Amino acid sequence: MQYRRLGRTGLKVSEIGLGTMMFGEKTSEAESIRIIQQALDAGVNLIDVADVYAGGASEHIVGAALAGRRSQAVLATKGGRPTPLGQGLSRSHLFKAVEASLQRLRTDYIDLYQVHRWDPETPLEESLSALNDLIRQGKIRYIGCSNFAAWQLCKALWISDVRNYARFDSVQPRYNLVYRDPEAELFPLSRSEGVGVLAYSPLAGGVLTGKYLDAIPEGSRGWQNPQWQEGRLTPEAESAAVRVRAAAQRLNRPAGQIAIRWCLANPAVSSALVGPRTEAQWADALGAAAWTLPADEAAAIGQQ
Ligand SMILES: NC(=O)c1ccc[n+]([C@@H]2O[C@H](COP(=O)([O-])OP(=O)(O)OC[C@H]3O[C@@H](n4cnc5c(N)ncnc54)[C@H](OP(=O)(O)O)[C@@H]3O)[C@@H](O)[C@H]2O)c1
Repeated sequence: MQYRRLGRTGLKVSEIGLGTMMFGEKTSEAESIRIIQQALDAGVNLIDVADVYAGGASEHIVGAALAGRRSQAVLATKGGRPTPLGQGLSRSHLFKAVEASLQRLRTDYIDLYQVHRWDPETPLEESLSALNDLIRQGKIRYIGCSNFAAWQLCKALWISDVRNYARFDSVQPRYNLVYRDPEAELFPLSRSEGVGVLAYSPLAGGVLTGKYLDAIPEGSRGWQNPQWQEGRLTPEAESAAVRVRAAAQRLNRPAGQIAIRWCLANPAVSSALVGPRTEAQWADALGAAAWTLPADEAAAIGQQ
């Protein structure tokens, strides 16, 4: 496994991160725990979860799997999306959300606490002041944001700077061959300001493995889900999957590994967060570690 600095911090994260969104939902607890153990065994330290995944069950599972191995993980969770406890990035909700995550995760600190998305109803000063206090209390160590536009992250960095609050050291956008919006504004900002990027959905939810090119596989995300199909199985996605498949044949590698490596070829990206549903999928993703996609292949795949 290779590691990258998270932005300007001294924290090193594995270039492949384990996304746990399926755990407790489509992946059983037993299989999820095996995947987490395999991740740690392979040197993956970054484990990404959120309070809302599987209604809190994903955090429970991650907490159980890390018993006795907590220090091996860079544990990243998120809060601020609607939950039965409340929602948003108010001081009140963030304090409650962090306590609840700590309990489910069975730990007394979270390495990276990420606000799940922008909250138009809470002043950013309030959220950053609350996160700053949570860092001082030792409950969280670094903070990040997710699904923020570049202007939102820029505003947050500016507030932290002028108020002397801890600042967002990471941003978590969707980023893959089909969805490249972050390249325009977010990545230049991240590189300029030393903010780490955790790229989620590097496989475009499985599309870039090529599995939808012939038929819709039973049990997959797209199976019997017309809404998902409409949003994800677009002509652009199909064309990207075809380019990835061609490169996979040339390089004699599974297509999913090519798609993951393509994300990691962007110097703004600190880690690609893959979200396996099965152990076999996770074993496939781990094969993307520690090699580099040749520049001409990266360029050919990226040609839109
Ligand atoms: N911040 C946010 O708002 C946000 C949003 C989404 C995700 N995330 C994070 O990012 C992580 C990854 O997101 P994601 O799950 O969308 O990413 P992804 O890695 O692009 O997609 C994962 C899905 O692709 C399919 N797949 C994976 N490996 C495969 C293989 N070898 N062959 C065939 N199909 C394969 C599986 O779906 P099937 O069930 O179809 O097999 C799997 O669940 C999440 O777990 C979460 O931690 C964050």
